[in-house]
Amino acid sequence: MIPGADVTDPGPRTPSSRVRADIAHNARVWNHWLGGSDSYPVDRAVGDRVTGMYPSIGEVARADRAFLGRAVRHLAGDAGIGQFLDIGTGLPTADNTHEVAQHTAPDARVVYVDNDPIVLEHARSLLTSSPEGATEYVEADARDPELILRAAGRTLDLGRPVAVMMLGILNFVLDTAEARGIVTKLMDALPSGSHLVLTHPTTELGGEGNEAAMRFWNENATPPITARSRTEFASFLDGLDVLEPGIVSCSRWRAGSHGLNPEVAQFGAVGRKP
Ligand SMILES: C[S@@+](CC[C@H](N)C(=O)[O-])C[C@H]1O[C@@H](n2cnc3c(N)ncnc32)[C@H](O)[C@@H]1O
Repeated sequence: MIPGADVTDPGPRTPSSRVRADIAHNARVWNHWLGGSDSYPVDRAVGDRVTGMYPSIGEVARADRAFLGRAVRHLAGDAGIGQFLDIGTGLPTADNTHEVAQHTAPDARVVYVDNDPIVLEHARSLLTSSPEGATEYVEADARDPELILRAAGRTLDLGRPVAVMMLGILNFVLDTAEARGIVTKLMDALPSGSHLVLTHPTTELGGEGNEAAMRFWNENATPPITARSRTEFASFLDGLDVLEPGIVSCSRWRAGSHGLNPEVAQFGAVGRKP
């Protein structure tokens, strides 16, 4: 939690002065695509225009969340990971990281990070930890990994393995070298056995209308977004052992009997630091 921000205070029902209700913001539009109601008219208008151009965007959002569930269940279960750093959390929705992790490992500790002030206003729902575990919320920008690590270290033991979750967020760091630098700083600070969980939009897996929709987004909403190739996505996992089945449509990552889910234009992968 940011210093001075009291997330037990129910706060105003109207947005705080830091929340811009006049321009579409990604966390709120993503919530709209997931079927939630934590959005303003401008978010719904832009979100619906994107859906009109790129009809599978809702499926992408749902596939991303389902991937999150499968990845966290694997990590908290078979991989024995008890600590999660979820950067680019989004607005609370069904099956948030701590709920999935603590279902398997009640003592799991989770730190959430986002830079959209609307997420802070809803952070109470992210802080409903099991009594054995812990959750914390940090308002920070992904471009400041040192600050994130310092803040996370108040809740997580950074001497023990951590799963860093960056789902649908590196696409907002437009410069690929900068995005790679963020990942490297985070993973370099963590011990062997730590994991990196990634999803990222791409235009290499189909998704009719995706490019036009991203152009529309960049002209009408914030923050601006970019897609990446498989090669660029793979570069974020350099130095890590990429778990089976490798880099795939996130809808197909360890999807079990749903393994033949339709592909979505969003890569997903999990890497383990050797
Ligand atoms: C597409 S949503 C993904 C939410 C969640 N990770 C998921 O997969 O469902 C991206 C989130 O990243 C946040 N975000 C975007 N740029 C960010 C930045 N530079 N630093 C921190 N958070 C950022 C947005 O506010 C939004 O909540």
